[in-house]
Amino acid sequence: MAKKRQERTLVIIKPDALNRGLAGEIIHRFERKGLKIVGIKMIQLDDIILAEHYAHLVDQPFFPRIAKFMSEWPVIVMALEGLEAVNSVRLLTGETLGRHADAGTIRGDYSMSVQANIVHASDSIENARKELARFFKPEELFDWNCLDSQAIYAEGEGEEDDDE
Ligand code: TYD
Repeated sequence: MAKKRQERTLVIIKPDALNRGLAGEIIHRFERKGLKIVGIKMIQLDDIILAEHYAHLVDQPFFPRIAKFMSEWPVIVMALEGLEAVNSVRLLTGETLGRHADAGTIRGDYSMSVQANIVHASDSIENARKELARFFKPEELFDWNCLDSQAIYAEGEGEEDDDE
């Protein structure tokens, strides 16, 4: 079986979460899971970065509405690190339409909407790499040794081939 490595992924805490005072709860959920925060900041998005970020949706009729929503208020961007972090964060995030998302997921627990669905999370390793480069300068991402990681993972986990 393939080696499972530490990955980094991008989360955006969207304007609806900020407006509802949920930012702390969202950050808390990722931290409690065992994901390591390696970058975090508040920024205001503009049309240029949104057209890049939502390039797969720019031709959709709802794109102008998302772009307005995402640029009208600031957002919090976060880089999270962990073993298979991209998939792990997507599982915590839940499906796009909040009212259909599984209970226990962030979208499932806190949202009803498709647009106001609390967080963005990178959907692949390749997109995570691109999105982290889009939103963070290299010096805004930190390599730090989390003392808790010995309790979060088994010794050597992710260094050897897993046989699952
Ligand atoms: P998408 O990349 O399809 O989903 P996800 O965020 O789960 O990876 O869509 C990006 C965002 O675009 C989505 O989080 C909310 C918004 N959106 C709408 O507002 N209406 C829609 O019909 C869709 C599909 C997405």
